[in-house]
Amino acid sequence: MVLVTGAAGFIGFHVARALLERGERVVGIDSVNNYYDPALKEARLRILHEHDAFAFERLDICDYDGLARVFGNAAPEKVCHLAAQAGVRYSLTDPFVYQKSNNEGFLNLLECARHARVSNFVFASTSSVYGANTKMPFSEADRTDTPMSLYAATKKANEVTAHAYSRLFGVPCSGLRFFTVYGPWGRPDMALFIFTKAILEGKPVDVFNFGKMKRNFTYVDDIVQGVLLVLDTPRPYEIYNIGNDRTVGLLDFVREIEHCLDARAAMNMLPMQPGDIAATEADIRKIRALGYAPATNVDAGVREFVNWYRQHYHC
Ligand SMILES: NC(=O)c1ccc[n+]([C@@H]2O[C@H](COP(=O)([O-])OP(=O)(O)OC[C@H]3O[C@@H](n4cnc5c(N)ncnc54)[C@H](O)[C@@H]3O)[C@@H](O)[C@H]2O)c1
Repeated sequence: MVLVTGAAGFIGFHVARALLERGERVVGIDSVNNYYDPALKEARLRILHEHDAFAFERLDICDYDGLARVFGNAAPEKVCHLAAQAGVRYSLTDPFVYQKSNNEGFLNLLECARHARVSNFVFASTSSVYGANTKMPFSEADRTDTPMSLYAATKKANEVTAHAYSRLFGVPCSGLRFFTVYGPWGRPDMALFIFTKAILEGKPVDVFNFGKMKRNFTYVDDIVQGVLLVLDTPRPYEIYNIGNDRTVGLLDFVREIEHCLDARAAMNMLPMQPGDIAATEADIRKIRALGYAPATNVDAGVREFVNWYRQHYHC
């Protein structure tokens, strides 16, 4: 039994589905909050519920007693902790939700994992922990003590908290620094979704740093491959980058979307936003050693997203 938090979320849904498809039993936890349209989360859950081996608990991870009950009933051997308040920009608007879900919620999960003596605790960190670092590509061995947003700071706190629990209580912990994940069922607050929606509605879209952003866009199926590899490889304490081979300029990414939609984007060119990082590039040699091999490039991945979007939203 694997406990997946954030199972109604973008990555959690894909991870839970992949685990079910390879024959595992999964208990999902999610508060199904309204940070973005809960209908999208409910639609993902409907797909997971097609599997008899899927059980779901609508629960806030800040509810320690609720979590302890789920651990007691389900007795998971492994935990994949993906629930969090995501998004860099929103952490400037509502810092307290990050403090609660990402710090308090994280500690609740670790405490439950410790008492349940799980064989592996895998959790989501982020490429944002590289913050003000300028040395590229970002390597796990680089220092990460210059976060540029509260979101990044909470994820860095998760990494060091997990280290303490690994040392103190022997909880095997692995943290995953995801690099800009995209694909079908993606998040409405992220660039691919925002651009696709705006182009289809004929509306202009804000482009920050005058488009001079570079991102290591990573297709969600590749992320899932990495997550499953790490879940299958318990270690006392590790941090892994999970990214792609290639970093792509934001405007090239937009061109791919335009190409798939056969339409042009109207762009409002704007300066850099506070909290943002201009470029990310992943050194993925460490996770490659586990067998990770990202297989989807941006043109194929964007097409998969656009096809899903048009079908899901009937447009
Ligand atoms: N998508 C990316 O590009 C990306 C990049 C780096 C890191 N991450 C991290 O990966 C994880 C998954 O991200 P995602 O893109 O799937 O985001 P998401 O917002 O789609 O999924 C997160 C899920 O967690 C749930 N959740 C939030 N707070 C909760 C709480 N207090 N209790 C219970 N459930 C709660 C939400 O309802 C949501 O369904 C997050 O930890 C995120 O920070 C994502």
